[in-house]
Amino acid sequence: MDGVLRAADIGKEVVLNGWVAKQRSLGSLIFVDIRDKTGITQIVFDDSIPEEVFGKAESLRSEFVIGVKGTVRERSSKNPDLPTGDIEVLASDLIIYSEADTPPIYVKDNDNVDENLRLKYRYLDLRKQTMQNNLTFRHKVCKLARDYFDENGFTEVETPMLVRSTPEGARDYLVPSRVAKGEFYALPQSPQLFKQLLMCGGTDRYFQIVKCFRDEDLRADRQPEFTQIDLEMSFMNVDEILALQEGFLKKVFKELMDIEISLPLRRLPWQEAMERYGSDKPDTRFGFELHDLSSLDVIKDTEFMVFRNALDNGGDVRGICVTGGSPAFSRKNIDKLTDEARHYGAKGLVWIRAEEDGFKSSVGKFFDDDALGRIASVFDAKAGDLILIAADRPKVVFDTLGFLRRHIAFQMGIVDENRFDLLWVTDFPMFEKDDETGEVKAMHHPFTHPKDEDIPLLDTDPMAVRADAYDIVLNGVELGGGSLRIHERDLQQKMFDILGISREDSKRKFGFLLEAFRYGVPPHGGLAYGLDRFIMLLTKQESIRDVMAFPKNQNAECMVSDAPNIVDREQLDELGISIDNE
Ligand code: AMO
Ligand code: AMP
Repeated sequence: MDGVLRAADIGKEVVLNGWVAKQRSLGSLIFVDIRDKTGITQIVFDDSIPEEVFGKAESLRSEFVIGVKGTVRERSSKNPDLPTGDIEVLASDLIIYSEADTPPIYVKDNDNVDENLRLKYRYLDLRKQTMQNNLTFRHKVCKLARDYFDENGFTEVETPMLVRSTPEGARDYLVPSRVAKGEFYALPQSPQLFKQLLMCGGTDRYFQIVKCFRDEDLRADRQPEFTQIDLEMSFMNVDEILALQEGFLKKVFKELMDIEISLPLRRLPWQEAMERYGSDKPDTRFGFELHDLSSLDVIKDTEFMVFRNALDNGGDVRGICVTGGSPAFSRKNIDKLTDEARHYGAKGLVWIRAEEDGFKSSVGKFFDDDALGRIASVFDAKAGDLILIAADRPKVVFDTLGFLRRHIAFQMGIVDENRFDLLWVTDFPMFEKDDETGEVKAMHHPFTHPKDEDIPLLDTDPMAVRADAYDIVLNGVELGGGSLRIHERDLQQKMFDILGISREDSKRKFGFLLEAFRYGVPPHGGLAYGLDRFIMLLTKQESIRDVMAFPKNQNAECMVSDAPNIVDREQLDELGISIDNE
C-alpha cells in the first residue's frame, strides 16, 4: 500500500512492495519513489544501512519490483502535490523481486503516447494511477449493483455465450461448431431472449453483469465486446421499473461520487426530445433548443427554394439560436460548421446574425429585416446572437441541429463538465422506416410492447404507435435502455406481420421464445445499462477504452494478444472450414 501513509503514521515500521517509479542517487543518499495501485511513497536510503543494501538501492531502475522495510519519518521538504507528501520511509532493508528492461512506454498519466502502443503494453499502461482508479471505480459500481439488486430481490443468473443469434440489430460474431460441421453459434449481442425465458422460468427478478458482442463500427463509446448490467422483471409496470432503477442510480451517485440526485428523474417523451434537442439522447446541460419555423408565415410562403423544396416535400425548417454566439463564429467558422453538418446529411445552413441595428443573413436576398425579425423573435434572439437554420427531411434536420447545438456548446466552452444531467427518454416510436429502402423496422426490438392506448393504431397507422420503451440518458449519452415486452401471442404475431417477418422466419429465429410463451408467460420488462459507458462518464474519461482493462483498438484488434489471427490448418480442418484467400 504505497499511497496510504500519512503524517499520523510517523514512527511506524512498515513494509512497502511495488514498482520503482523513480530513482535519484545523490552520492550518500538515494531517493526512490515506490509505486503500487494506491499511489507513490518516497523511500530514502542513507549510510545507516549496510553497504550491500545501499549497493542494491543504487542499482534500482524504473519498473524494478521491490520490497522495502523501513520507518516512516517526517519529510524535510514536503510535497503538497502528493497525498504522501508529508512523509518518507527511511529504508532499513531492500529486496529486489525482479529487474526490468527499459519500458517501451513511460508509466505516466497524460503522457501523449500512441494509443496502440498503450494497448500493446497494457500491463505497463495499467500501472498508471488513472487507469487503476478507473478499474477500482468500475469494481465499486459492479459491487454496488450486485448489492442493490440483491437487496431488491434480484437473482444473478448466467446466460450462455454460445447461442443462436439475437435480434439486437448489429452484426453477429460467429463461432463455428466442430460437432455440427458447417453450423455456427453466435456470441450474444445481449441476453435478451434468455432473460425473457428466465421470466417464463419463474426467476421473477433477474440480474447479470454480462459480456455482449456486436460486430459494428467502433467509436469512442463503442466496443465490439462490452459489458451490460442486464435486468428483467415480472409483474411490474413502467413506473415501478423506472423507480427501482432510480434507486440504483441515486445510490451510485451518492455513495461513489457524493452527489445527490433528486428523484424522480425527468421524463422526456421521445417526440419532445427530438423537437427540443434534435436528439433522442439530449444533453440538457445547456440551451440552444430547437424551434420549428415551418409554420411561420414568412417561411411558409417563402420563394427561397431551399425552404420551399423542403416544405413541399414534407420536410421541416428548424433552427437553433446560439446565445451570444455571433462574435465567436466568423463566416469561415460557419462554413466549417456547415461542412461538419454534412456528415448528418445537411446540404447547407442558413445563418442570421442579430445585431444592434438589424440583421445580417446568408439569405438577406430573400428575407428583409422585418422577415428576419419575425424569425428572430421565435428564438427571442438579442443582439450578438447567431441563428442557424436547416431545412430538409425531419431526420436530417434533427440530426444536423442536434449535432450543432452540442458541438457549438462544447466549442464555446459553456458546458458544465461537473454537472450530471440524468433523464429518461420515453414513448419511443414503435417502428422506424428506412429512408432509402422504406423498410419498416422495430426501433428497439420486435418484442417491445406498444403503449396500451396505441394498440388500436397498429391496424390503422402503425408508424404513429408509441412503445413502452425507455432510455436512460446522461449528459447526451445513452447509458441504457429497455422496455416492457409483449407477452400476448396475438400481439406478437401482429408485430411480426407489420415488420414483414414471415411465420417461418419468426419460428426459425425466435420460435423457442414464442413456444415458451404458450405455456404461461408473466407480463415482464427490463433494461440494460452499458456498464463501460456508465464508468466512462462518471470517471470523465473521453474513451470507453480507458475504463476497460483490455479493450480492442479501433480496428477491433486485441493488441495484447494480437487477435484476431490466423489459426492452424488442422484447427480449420476439424471445423470443416477452408479459407478463401481472394
Ligand atoms: P441496447 O442495445 O440498447 O439494449 O443496449 C443497452 C446498452 O448497452 C450499451 N451498448 C454498448 N456499449 C458499448 N459498446 C457497444 N457496442 C454498445 N452497444 C450497446 C449502451 C446501451 O444503452 N437487450 C436490450 C436491453 C433491454 O431491452 O432490456 C439491449 O441490449 O449503453
Ligand atoms: P444555395 O441556393 O445552394 O446557394 O444555398 C443558399 C443558402 O442556403 C446557403 O447559405 C446554403 O448554405 C443554404 N442551404 C442550402 N441547403 C440548405 C438546407 N437544406 N438547409 C438550410 N440551408 C441550406
